[in-house]
Amino acid sequence: MIQFLLNQELRSEHALDPNLTVLNYLREHVGKSGTKEGCASGDCGACTVVVGELQTDDGGREHIRYRSLNSCLTFVSSLHGKQLISVEDLKHKGELHSVQKAMVECHGSQCGFCTPGFVMSLFALQKNSDAPDHAKAHEALAGNLCRCTGYRPILAAAEQSCCAKQPDQFDAREADTIARLKAIAPTDIGELNSGDKRCLVPLTVADLADLYDAYPQARLLAGGTDLALEVTQFHRTLPVMIYVGNVAEMKRIETFDDRIEIGAATPLSDCYEALNAEYPDFGELLHRFASLQIRNQGTLGGNIGNASPIGDSPPLLIALGAQVVLCKGETRRTLNLDDYFIDYKVTARQESEFIEKIIVPRASAEQRFRAYKVSKRLDDDISAVCAAFNLRIENCMITDARMAFGGMAAIPKRAAHCEAALIGQPFNNAVIERACAALAEDFTPLSDFRASKEYRLLSAQNLLRKYFIELQTPHIETRVTAYV
Ligand SMILES: Cc1cc2nc3c(=O)[nH]c(=O)nc-3n(C[C@H](O)[C@H](O)[C@H](O)COP(=O)(O)OP(=O)(O)OC[C@H]3O[C@@H](n4cnc5c(N)ncnc54)[C@H](O)[C@@H]3O)c2cc1C
Ligand code: FES
Ligand code: FES
Repeated sequence: MIQFLLNQELRSEHALDPNLTVLNYLREHVGKSGTKEGCASGDCGACTVVVGELQTDDGGREHIRYRSLNSCLTFVSSLHGKQLISVEDLKHKGELHSVQKAMVECHGSQCGFCTPGFVMSLFALQKNSDAPDHAKAHEALAGNLCRCTGYRPILAAAEQSCCAKQPDQFDAREADTIARLKAIAPTDIGELNSGDKRCLVPLTVADLADLYDAYPQARLLAGGTDLALEVTQFHRTLPVMIYVGNVAEMKRIETFDDRIEIGAATPLSDCYEALNAEYPDFGELLHRFASLQIRNQGTLGGNIGNASPIGDSPPLLIALGAQVVLCKGETRRTLNLDDYFIDYKVTARQESEFIEKIIVPRASAEQRFRAYKVSKRLDDDISAVCAAFNLRIENCMITDARMAFGGMAAIPKRAAHCEAALIGQPFNNAVIERACAALAEDFTPLSDFRASKEYRLLSAQNLLRKYFIELQTPHIETRVTAYV
């Protein structure tokens, strides 16, 4: 069984198809059709809902953290122990919520199809930010598309409703909701099943390892922002899933003197602070990664586990010399991330083995790390080329080089010829030009709808030139680039 609060109502579900998305659950099982389906692929935000989770801050105070998610890519099993809030829950005692009023007063809605999604993103913004500025509002709304009003009135609604705290019914009921969430806090493995389809929800790494041993054919479900597409876009059925998002050990971030350890099930939005503090370009890239809804849901482990050649974090992690800790039963092994990717969608992961955590080395003074993402749009778009450069420069000589790319081969990959052209050489223009030429030996990229092979190779070479110029003129602040 899994249990969650549908706003204030306790829902206990057992016999549901685990392939059921929260969107279809709300619309078809609960009869709440305010949440809309625009694309069923995480691109439009019409299906945005807010999920609340019990958290304890550093001072020991318990509170509920509210996040916007795309319900079209969220399976019901991942609600276990949480609170689901949909647009119907905002109106209270006949009064619209302040974010809804602001949308009306600022004329932020015309056809209205996108409006519930915008309202929910604004609600999450209001809950998460004391005084959001324009950039925060933009970030909160970048995953919501509207084809009617233009975004100016919607941004005005954000300013009106989110710039000052406006206590609402959720604040008034917080203590009661915390008590209810504690009462349903999972204590054992949860399960949702229908016929021979099931999704299991372990709470510990040990239970996850046991379940994956027992069901080696299971698909691991983290945020589902890749996996759910198999159901919503390709109309496949996933017979067995194991949801890793309730395994607390895999959602931890720990910082040591020489490394940061990030649990594989940590949502990307939670990785931001630690990675941005160490490597501002990593933070910048995470801002450009999908939308806030996807980053609230999608995990670092899922981005690696998906093994896409255009996944954004792997080139950066490879250039930084990151490692993955793989777990199978009681056995663990640590692998350099560049040895993890073998061929298109083929990885070094064995049967029943999963990524437990990612180890990122901390920055050193001699290191010059920069990352660049080339995509057609600034927000919510997947890379045509992603490049991460990490040179060690001592006394004007390049003493080490880790140059990694996404979108240039079947896997995220280091550029071995380019690195060889750099190591042991002075850091000057002639050397960089030789390294650019060497990239043509490293990669034979493909042409697809994102970019031609010629564009990809030229972009990769030009990004390396850009890196060289930026390191010489550090005041240039155009690190993570979009070519629109
Ligand atoms: C609209 C949209 C925009 C996107 N934009 C970007 C983008 O800009 N950049 C980008 O890189 N990606 C993007 N993605 C892809 C996706 O969001 C990321 O790959 C995300 O990190 C996947 O994480 P997840 O937790 O949702 O993975 P899931 O979908 O849950 O899982 C992905 C795969 O990894 C496996 N897996 C999950 N956890 C583990 C584990 N611990 N061990 C082993 N295997 C595991 C799963 O079995 C599955 O095969 C986008 C997706 C959408 C829908
Ligand atoms: S329906 Fe478009 S993001 Fe979910
Ligand atoms: S109001 Fe029509 S799509 Fe947004």
